[in-house]
Amino acid sequence: MEKIKLAIIGTGGMAKAHGDAFSAMDNVEIVACCDILEERAKAFAEKYNIPHYYTDFNELYEKEKLTAVSVVTSDKFHKAPSIEALKRNIHCMCEKPLADNLENAKEMSDLAEEKLKEGIFTAVDFSYRNSFATQKLAEMVQSGEFGKVIAFDAHYRQSWVSTKIWGDFRTSSAFQWRMSTKHGSLGTMGDTGVHIYDLTRFVCGDFDEIFCQLDCYDKDVNQVGEYVFDANETMYTIAKLKCGGRGTVDSSRWSTGYANEVSIQVFCEKGGFDLNLDRVKGGQLRACINENRDKGVWEIIACPETPDMWTRFIDSIIEGKQGQTSFKGAYEVQKLLDASIKSNEKQGFVKL
Ligand SMILES: NC(=O)c1ccc[n+]([C@@H]2O[C@H](COP(=O)([O-])OP(=O)(O)OC[C@H]3O[C@@H](n4cnc5c(N)ncnc54)[C@H](O)[C@@H]3O)[C@@H](O)[C@H]2O)c1
Repeated sequence: MEKIKLAIIGTGGMAKAHGDAFSAMDNVEIVACCDILEERAKAFAEKYNIPHYYTDFNELYEKEKLTAVSVVTSDKFHKAPSIEALKRNIHCMCEKPLADNLENAKEMSDLAEEKLKEGIFTAVDFSYRNSFATQKLAEMVQSGEFGKVIAFDAHYRQSWVSTKIWGDFRTSSAFQWRMSTKHGSLGTMGDTGVHIYDLTRFVCGDFDEIFCQLDCYDKDVNQVGEYVFDANETMYTIAKLKCGGRGTVDSSRWSTGYANEVSIQVFCEKGGFDLNLDRVKGGQLRACINENRDKGVWEIIACPETPDMWTRFIDSIIEGKQGQTSFKGAYEVQKLLDASIKSNEKQGFVKL
């Protein structure tokens, strides 16, 4: 079979994960890359042995014969290259969050649904679904074997605002657009909150209503040049699920001691589950189920291997079948982001 000809748009920090993943696949050839910063695009092309690099994605689309594209630009610039790709019948993977607001996410999702009818597939990089343990947890909870979800607590903790654990936000541009609403950032909510909302929804099911608090704190430096650091840095949400269960979802950049920790505890009618994606490499799933329930004993659950998001995207093209995370699915998550903003503004619950 002919190799899938793929381009990567946006060659900053996260593009490395896309470059590593796609260049390791026998059935994919990365034929071009693009970044508005020419030096970045050039260096990326050299690193991954990519024949052509561009500074304008339209020119790339015009000149290259592509099967697929992966959009890894900063959040505000997901829409334009994704929409243009779909219009040209190029299968499109996009980074999370799908867009910088609900309206743009809807436009992307609507077009993706239209194109799906023509066999064009989309994917969104909700990377915490890569863990075998995440997939196993979702399967166990969604099977219904342990009854309905009654309660849950989901956390995404980082600390790059309160520490220099990943570098200094005062001097590094990769942090600065993430802290500035003017540059399209939805703060910790759009950066990491989106992951923990997706993970919770994937495992526990659809949300019914949420009450969310979004806060930004005073720092020793609150602006660098055009970047005003006004985006939310903590997100605390109380949520009710459509199935009736209730729980909390939070995300923070001030969780000193945690570089990047994702975890969720889910309590069903007939069992407790505890997923931690960082304490053990690849993630660990524990459960208190069956005869262990009355003893409070947790067992480690074996989790069979599952494909990562990049593989799922390429498989969807090869198999002609939409994979696990479509633009439509990501639009559902974007509704949670939008409802969070509205809830924070009105200081009340918002229905989904
Ligand atoms: N799934 C995950 O776990 C994960 C992790 C980190 C980042 N991300 C997401 O990946 C995306 C990129 O994040 P990053 O950390 O690489 O940021 P970054 O700032 O390091 O890189 C973004 C790159 O996009 C380029 N760019 C911006 N507009 C462009 C355009 N119109 N055309 C071409 N290039 C353009 C920038 O010049 C920059 O090089 C973001 O959406 C972010 O939320 C996802």
